Amino acid sequence: MTTHLYRASILHFPHKSAQPKDDYIYIKDGALVTRNGKIVVTGERKTIENQYHDVKTHDYSGQLIVPGFIDSHLHFPQTEMLASFGEQLLDWLENYTFPTEGKFSNPEYAAKIADIFLRQLYRHGTTSAMVYSSVHQCAAEALFSAAQKHKMLLIAGKVCMDRHCPSWLQDSPEKAQKESADLIERWHGKDRLYYAITPRFAPTSSPEQLHALGELAQQYPDVYIQTHLNENLNEIAWVNSLFPKHNGYLDVYDKFNMLRPKAVFGHCIHMQEHEWQRMAQSGASIAFCPTSNLFLGSGLFDLKTAEKHNIPVALATDVGAGTSFSMLRTLGEAYKVGQLRGEQLQPLHGLYLMTQGAALAQGLEDKIGNLNPGSDADFVVLDPNFDELTSLRFEQHNEVQDIIFALSMLADDRAISATYIAGEPVYQTHIK
Ligand code: GUN
Ligand code: ZN
Repeated sequence: MTTHLYRASILHFPHKSAQPKDDYIYIKDGALVTRNGKIVVTGERKTIENQYHDVKTHDYSGQLIVPGFIDSHLHFPQTEMLASFGEQLLDWLENYTFPTEGKFSNPEYAAKIADIFLRQLYRHGTTSAMVYSSVHQCAAEALFSAAQKHKMLLIAGKVCMDRHCPSWLQDSPEKAQKESADLIERWHGKDRLYYAITPRFAPTSSPEQLHALGELAQQYPDVYIQTHLNENLNEIAWVNSLFPKHNGYLDVYDKFNMLRPKAVFGHCIHMQEHEWQRMAQSGASIAFCPTSNLFLGSGLFDLKTAEKHNIPVALATDVGAGTSFSMLRTLGEAYKVGQLRGEQLQPLHGLYLMTQGAALAQGLEDKIGNLNPGSDADFVVLDPNFDELTSLRFEQHNEVQDIIFALSMLADDRAISATYIAGEPVYQTHIK
């Protein structure tokens, strides 16, 4: 069993923290040791090198190791339709999303795109994700199989929808329940894979389907749940007209037993005070998707209020309404959302929301999101000097906060020097 030692600067958040900008570990001349797919230790390079002799050394001096990024909300079958012009949510779904997702009834096509999708995640430093597949059971199968090959920690689910979308994309209450149950039995807890029950959003599920999925959620209390909530004002008006007896949008999911810990709600931009309070009580969490929210003109997420209510928040791309697979770019756009709200998102706070904070939101902090001993060896090597512009920018001495901030504005996949999953490189620009 080989022990690996990686020389680099080290940055991570070892704890759950309300003040991540002040509660981090940074070791400038550091080292990370891994064995058998797990992290053994991090520390000062000199100390570690004195302690560990029989190791394979990987020299990333001058670069920065951080935990693998976690993307807590994105759509695998929308990989090919990033940057489709000119619509807000409901027209965008009709005109681009549904026609594209229809292609995933073909299992070979789904398998081909699953490989591209995972390659895109890895080249952008993302090692874990919470993913919506299409309505087709075979597409979810293809995605789980592809992730399993890379020993990736992935949470995913087959989208369920039985109305207000093309007939050829509809399942039914019974089919949604049966196929989701089959997928849970086959994949949930297998290797590093987990299942998420995935009603697309309230408008595309009949009350009968929501009932069937709530029943399934009760039958499997430890599976994840993911859906969309309070993203767009027209969507919210539509939900109110479809479910007039409910006290707002969140209440629809609540009454159908889908509001609980390990339920992750995408967007949550237009929340009423009673919805913040009920969500806080429930233990559910929120995926904040800034590039998508700006792209579709949905609105500006109120991170401060979410955190005031102690609701766990995780950053996410929401590809394909999101415009990049890069979580670094996503962090940059989250900062700009804060600027428009008159609130500054500190760079290390933002990095927390895509590492340890995201793992905490998903109850996975004993496995991912940090570089603590015993955690899985999922990590990214960032090269701040990835081109002449950033080399110039970083010529002077820079605090680590400043490096992360500048990377959030300037970086993309060029800043990712290597991505490791369970101690194995899944993406590398140079063999080290
Ligand atoms: N609401 C329902 N479906 C979707 C989707 O695919 N993307 C986004 N951004 N919002 C949705
Ligand atoms: Zn989404």
